[in-house]
Amino acid sequence: MAYETINLEISDGVALITLNRPDALNALNSQLLGELATAVEDADASEKVRCIVITGSDKAFAAGADIKEMADKSFVDMYRNNFFWAETDRFLKTRKPIIAAVAGYALGGGCELAMMCDFIIAADSAKFGQPEINLGVIAGIGGTQRLTRFVGKSKSMEMHLTGRFMDAQEAERSGLVSRVVPAKKLKDEAMSAAHKIAEKSLLATMAVKDTVNRAYETTMAEGINYERRMFQSLFATEDQTEGMESYIEKREPQFRDK
Ligand code: CAA
Repeated sequence: MAYETINLEISDGVALITLNRPDALNALNSQLLGELATAVEDADASEKVRCIVITGSDKAFAAGADIKEMADKSFVDMYRNNFFWAETDRFLKTRKPIIAAVAGYALGGGCELAMMCDFIIAADSAKFGQPEINLGVIAGIGGTQRLTRFVGKSKSMEMHLTGRFMDAQEAERSGLVSRVVPAKKLKDEAMSAAHKIAEKSLLATMAVKDTVNRAYETTMAEGINYERRMFQSLFATEDQTEGMESYIEKREPQFRDK
């Protein structure tokens, strides 16, 4: 499929999706969100893809939902047509790992999109924020919930109430991003992490994603139980046998996703 608002490259098991609306700082309009959801769904289904990276430009990962597209919407437009949640719900169904590689602005829906990925690697230029309060609204694609779980109530509340931005160092200190790298190295670092993930058993990386995400959906006891069952289930796979045998035989594993 030919995309107009994103670029897609697939190499060595990794799908690299670059948001591409430079004139609007990658603001998330319905076309972009639709194309992104389709690209991610296709990558999830493709035998050629084992990990996905989403990135933007040096200036902006994404500066939020497209305000110009939203401005004239009514409650009925938003509610009845499920405006942009139809696409983000499709995005959230992805079972393969997704890394957000964030440089520049990740604001509003842009910050929320980064948080919908499985982890965030930030360039030292990254700025995160939920400035919807300045538009007379609040975050709408999970920001009030996800940011609060990542950075805690006090910081999340302050960011949502004042609209202030958080720089990359603060984001790392607060647990929003896994690490900060020099802006020039962002793409290489994210691709290198993705290639490392792509070398593992896909069954195990999908199980990691599924199981870690349980921590946000359930109690500790239920999550531990879920992890135990998932761990036990992996002993039904050839990749478990191969992984453990290769360790004992001091050789690299050859995972076959079986
Ligand atoms: N929607 C639509 N267009 C946007 C946009 C957005 N979220 N963010 C930037 N743009 C556009 C600007 O309108 C501008 O277009 P024109 O040249 O046609 O005027 C272009 O991108 C470049 O932006 P600026 O000239 O403003 O660039 P800057 O460097 O001076 O400022 C910025 C950068 C601080 C990010 C500023 O653009 C800004 O404040 N953007 C809006 C951020 C925002 O409020 N995001 C939240 C959106 S609401 C939301 O996301 C709701 C939700 O949770 C789902």
